[in-house]
Amino acid sequence: MADLSTNLAGIKSPNPFWVASGPPANTAYQAHRAFEAGWGGVVWKTIGDPIVNVASRYSALNYGRDRMIGLNNIELISDRSPETNFREIAEVKKRWPHHAVIASLMVDTRERWHEFVRRSTDAGADGIELNYGCPHGMCERGMGSAVGQQPAVAEKITSWVMEVATIPVIVKLTPNITDITAAARAAKRAGANAISLINTINSITNVNLDTFVPEPTVAGLSSHAGYCGPAVKPIALNMVQSCAADPAVGLPISGIGGIANWRDAAEFLALGSTSLQVCTAIMHYGFRIVEDMNEGLSAYLDSKGMKSINELIGRAVPTVQKWETLDLNWQRVARIDYEKCIGCNLCYIACEDGAHQCIDLLSPDELNIGLGPGRVPHKPVPKVREEDCVGCNLCSLVCPVDDCITMTEIPTGRPPLSWSDYQTRLAAGEISPLPPHP
Ligand SMILES: Cc1cc2nc3c(=O)[nH]c(=O)nc-3n(C[C@H](O)[C@H](O)[C@H](O)COP(=O)(O)O)c2cc1C
Ligand code: SF4
Ligand code: SF4
Repeated sequence: MADLSTNLAGIKSPNPFWVASGPPANTAYQAHRAFEAGWGGVVWKTIGDPIVNVASRYSALNYGRDRMIGLNNIELISDRSPETNFREIAEVKKRWPHHAVIASLMVDTRERWHEFVRRSTDAGADGIELNYGCPHGMCERGMGSAVGQQPAVAEKITSWVMEVATIPVIVKLTPNITDITAAARAAKRAGANAISLINTINSITNVNLDTFVPEPTVAGLSSHAGYCGPAVKPIALNMVQSCAADPAVGLPISGIGGIANWRDAAEFLALGSTSLQVCTAIMHYGFRIVEDMNEGLSAYLDSKGMKSINELIGRAVPTVQKWETLDLNWQRVARIDYEKCIGCNLCYIACEDGAHQCIDLLSPDELNIGLGPGRVPHKPVPKVREEDCVGCNLCSLVCPVDDCITMTEIPTGRPPLSWSDYQTRLAAGEISPLPPHP
């Protein structure tokens, strides 16, 4: 069995799965339950000056039958007192010495940061996470994303923390910024030990068309809210990879954003995460999901012959490059497996209206092919004109049958040619312009 234990900047945990700072990490009771279920770490709900929350707080994006593909919230940091939170952190740490317990903090002045860092250390926390991400409420008070959106301010505050920190410090970044690496570099300059990302994304999930007020609604008004859950995973992966690939960052990463199963976890690890944090999936399905995550990740690593997650971390980072480096001469086309095709013709419609009009509808007799058992009788059969197919993938993305349309590489006989090489060689008169698509 592969070794799932991980070490993020000195913070050790038996597996990479940590409960993210949020409602599931609010109390000692929840931390005990999480560790009993198999989580490797808990990042405590952000501790600061206790605040008063509103009702309601959450709103969701449903899609088709899928509920909560995205969740947003206008909840603020902990509404429990720092005394209670630090006392419970100490209690949890005592009972779970080999699990990671991280205090998430958000205060305003230098003195308060010093005080809260010391109190976290005294409570026995394994590390501290600085919350520069909350995109609602706290930023109006000059904290949360108001800090994360200004790298110079984040650098200053992080340097205050580093003045007194004796345990590892993780800077949690906001995605509500144009260039996430600017914020990550600021954390590095200030001496932080790691970064975590992403916090939630500014959003309005929907508008009630009777009341004309978005959800969540508070006495007839709403507010910009922080978005998370499966819908944000692509944004999070992109930002994690950007930070992992930037030599000026060079910090270990705790990946967060839409992680719900072992596959998501493996993707975050491959793009450079050393630990993984989960909030929405726990709010949706409970702590037990970690059992499948641990088992699935372990089985995946075994199947790839990897002895530990360290062999997976960062494996996919170098495969993401600038567009101008991609090979203009590489070609793939769509091929349909008629044994699997059910004749729904979604591929034809997609290519006809949304792509390059290179799927024809023909009778099975014309094609002289055998058809699989799932076919709708008497319906025409889609046939790709390979010479016109630009290999965009669209038909394979809309096809409802797994592996029915395969995007197949075809040899062009032309050597690799990147956009940058193309420009240079064109200017030098070494090659003629590539023909435009008809
Ligand atoms: C209701 C709610 C409250 C949250 N509170 C905090 C918080 O106090 N501190 C913090 O750093 N992040 C907080 N988050 C953000 C999560 O830690 C996490 O960064 C984000 O939800 C993305 O992960 P997910 O897609 O797994 O939920 C909160 C998220 C939700 C949904
Ligand atoms: S979308 Fe797939 S199943 Fe439907 S007609 Fe096209 S190839 Fe066949
Ligand atoms: S890959 Fe794109 S261009 Fe080719 S058949 Fe499919 S939709 Fe049409």
